[in-house]
Amino acid sequence: MSALYRLKGLEYSYLWNGKQVPVLKGIDLELEKGCFTCIVGPSGTGKTTLLNLLGLIDTPSNGHLEFAGEDVTHLPESEKENVRLHKVGFIFQSFYLIPTLTVLENTSYFLPSLGYNHANAQKVAMETLDLLGLADHAKKKPLELSGGQRQRVAIARAIAKKPAVVLADEPTANLDSVTAEKTINAFKELQKSENTSFIFSTHDSHLVSFAKSVYRMKDGMIDNTKNQEAK
Ligand SMILES: Nc1ncnc2c1ncn2[C@@H]1O[C@H](COP(=O)(O)OP(=O)(O)OP(=O)(O)O)[C@@H](O)[C@H]1O
Ligand SMILES: [Mg+2]
Repeated sequence: MSALYRLKGLEYSYLWNGKQVPVLKGIDLELEKGCFTCIVGPSGTGKTTLLNLLGLIDTPSNGHLEFAGEDVTHLPESEKENVRLHKVGFIFQSFYLIPTLTVLENTSYFLPSLGYNHANAQKVAMETLDLLGLADHAKKKPLELSGGQRQRVAIARAIAKKPAVVLADEPTANLDSVTAEKTINAFKELQKSENTSFIFSTHDSHLVSFAKSVYRMKDGMIDNTKNQEAK
């Protein structure tokens, strides 16, 4: 198996009210490249915290994290930023769209830093919005959209740059079944054409049915691992 991530004894604590509160309590995992992986489990169990570590947004308190064959546990911030820009597409649970920019500008946001000229950035962003059924909303600002539309703009921004891995925190949470299906198809298309890896935190059993591996978290640990025939 070609591992995308290797986690050994990974721990994370939040500093809260002057105390360290342990949230991830020693996670050992190997996540495979080029497929859909789901992280499931009850609310508050540490799924978002784990995605933040995988996306190099936070630094582990203890343990070892390897990404694409490289030890990234204690990478300096500037190098982390470089890995995030070039290799990771992050879809946050709370979207983090830029309210002053249009849907099109939000979607194309990272592309100039990746070497796209203005015309190409606009073209790729429009194609991605079209794939997600949002082309008609390109000129709107995020506050002029519904929750599900905002979620899809966050998805468009993450996948437009064709990253090696997409980390998506509850990406179908605000979507109806038809829109969710369309979104999953867009993910599938990217996985097939670019061998993109997708790691989802989700409560959506339909999305879970597309995953090759499903990891159930309980109380900051991996409680159960299931490998299945992905849809
Ligand atoms: N900034 C923070 N400071 C202190 N504790 C935090 C912070 N962020 C999260 N936590 C705590 O860490 C635990 C795990 O949170 P996390 O967001 O990873 O859960 P989750 O599994 O993603 O839940 P959900 O399914 O509701 O999204 C929770 O108990 C939460 O209260
Ligand atoms: Mg969460």
